[in-house]
Amino acid sequence: MAKIDLEAIIKRYDLENISIATLASHSSLQIFHGARAEGLNTVAIVERSRLEFYRSFTRLINDFIVVDRWSDLCSESVVEKLRELNSIIVPHGSLVEYVGSECAESLGVPIFGLRSLYRVEASQRLKMDLLKRGKIPVPRSFSGRDLDDIDTLVIVKLPGAKGGRGYFLSRDPAEIRLRLKRLIDEGVISSTDDALIQEYVVGVTAYFHYFYSPILDRLEILGCDIRYESNVDGLKRLPNKYIEEIEPTFTVIGNIPMVLRESLLLKVYDYGMRFVNETKRSLPPGIIGPFCLESIVRDNGDIVVFEFSGRIVAGTNLYIDGSPYSWLYWDEPMSVGRRIAREIKMARDRRLIKKILT
Ligand SMILES: Nc1ncnc2c1ncn2[C@@H]1O[C@H](COP(=O)(O)OP(=O)(O)O)[C@@H](O)[C@H]1O
Ligand SMILES: [Mg+2]
Repeated sequence: MAKIDLEAIIKRYDLENISIATLASHSSLQIFHGARAEGLNTVAIVERSRLEFYRSFTRLINDFIVVDRWSDLCSESVVEKLRELNSIIVPHGSLVEYVGSECAESLGVPIFGLRSLYRVEASQRLKMDLLKRGKIPVPRSFSGRDLDDIDTLVIVKLPGAKGGRGYFLSRDPAEIRLRLKRLIDEGVISSTDDALIQEYVVGVTAYFHYFYSPILDRLEILGCDIRYESNVDGLKRLPNKYIEEIEPTFTVIGNIPMVLRESLLLKVYDYGMRFVNETKRSLPPGIIGPFCLESIVRDNGDIVVFEFSGRIVAGTNLYIDGSPYSWLYWDEPMSVGRRIAREIKMARDRRLIKKILT
């Protein structure tokens, strides 16, 4: 990976005229909305076919950089233009997916967030290792070698399967072995170790939205949502006898707001802090800004985290006007998009901008 001389790039920036730049997708409208609320300039990097739609939000976007392919983000002319506009890139879930991790990691424009986390996020195993090192409770897992130890319902996750497509549930080692072999024969995976086999935790899904501020050295819980997933969340509408032959799938269709029992918040905060501390330890300077722990809450209140996202998640789009939690910290309509812009402004005004960029 080419080394980026962040310091030299920032030195040439006019910090009084910062732009917030992001790919026009995922949660970009919220990010632009928040940046405008904070009085910052906004830049949309947009694929030509989406231009008309994003142009209709005239109030939100100051500059457009139109690309034919998303991967043009890393081209010299786009990077040059972004620097001219004193841009800070705000990453979201579509960034790495659209441009690839190599482009995202080597992009010669400052990023608000922890760039070194992209590599970890690209691997289900590295992701779970980070959570384990941070002493965050995760589901039991099994490897290809100890399939015979499986004594519970498990979810088998395939690498790169977006939205959980291709995942399957089973409690039978012989069936799992057979299905994995079939997937190897079909070239979907190259060995059983490519699949992540986790205990299927029964409870309620809850996705916690956090924001870690390096400027205030403070962790904020900014919201919580439930991902409504097809078809698994639709199965409960069917009588049991019809469910049996249906294979559950986990494609996110939308997000539903959730407010947690206040007694759960202490644990949610604790696990968030563990995540902050572990990223500081193993990936310095550690997480910057938004992240999400994806969990199942059991009936005894135990929280089991099965995945994380090291950036803004789409569930925060519910709270453009602030969430029941963001009001408690800020007493003003504070979305995660706006919180990002606020952090950038605070960092600039305190001459600490390097603290929040990688
Ligand atoms: N260990 C688990 N127990 C119960 N449900 C799970 C578990 N892991 C994942 N899920 C369900 O599957 C969905 C997709 O899994 P996830 O690991 O988040 O993969 P993806 O990469 O597709 O986001 C989750 O949103 C959740 O509904
Ligand atoms: Mg997930």
